[in-house]
Amino acid sequence: MNARELKIRAAQAALDHVEDGMRLGIGTGSTADEFVRLLAGKVAGGMKITGVPTSERTASLCAELGVALSTLDETPQLDLTIDGADEIDPALNLVKGGGGALLREKIVAAASARMIVIADESKLVKTLGHFPLPIEVNRFGLRATEIAIARAVENLGLAGPIILRMTEGQPFVTDGGHLILDASFGRIPDTRALSNALHAVPGVVEHGMFLGMAEQAIIAGEGGIRVVRPNR
Ligand code: A5P
Repeated sequence: MNARELKIRAAQAALDHVEDGMRLGIGTGSTADEFVRLLAGKVAGGMKITGVPTSERTASLCAELGVALSTLDETPQLDLTIDGADEIDPALNLVKGGGGALLREKIVAAASARMIVIADESKLVKTLGHFPLPIEVNRFGLRATEIAIARAVENLGLAGPIILRMTEGQPFVTDGGHLILDASFGRIPDTRALSNALHAVPGVVEHGMFLGMAEQAIIAGEGGIRVVRPNR
């Protein structure tokens, strides 16, 4: 089974959690795209949901496929968010933001009573940090923020390149108009300490660690679908 088929399977299993009338946060990324395609089929069949997208990209796909959307301002409390992840540890702490949507993804997930992660089994890790951690930063004072982040992580004993994300020769700009630094630490033994240290840097808008937010992960692998619950 190829990677896309696994993503479709995870997305399909997540659809069982979507009920008529739900206020639904809709994630970003290639796995979330598969979820949107399947959701569009349900909506075309008469299911009513109030969808809140986590990115302009997801909003466009929903519009293209006829999934009517609300905004988080109109619908500030959601029943469920379904989203992908770049890494998932056994406590269901996540790294997200490979697609650059981490800020809206985190705001939407935090506004949801429940968050379900969908992924193929390649996303499961013992310790977060192999996938570069996206850190969304304000454009103002970029260099000063980079230096402050480097100092903060050094104090925690972490080391590794922290690189400004580029696309087509230009800095990547998020939906919120910010920049992204991708930090490759290899492993992050104390995610909470790193989260606190990054949040203490004024130029940091948000980071891609989602700690204690997901209630379950639906993981698709060659052996079928597995539901993983946090070992917190
Ligand atoms: C988007 O910013 C990310 O958080 C994605 O949810 C995450 O990168 C997973 O993407 P894929 O499903 O494409 O791997």
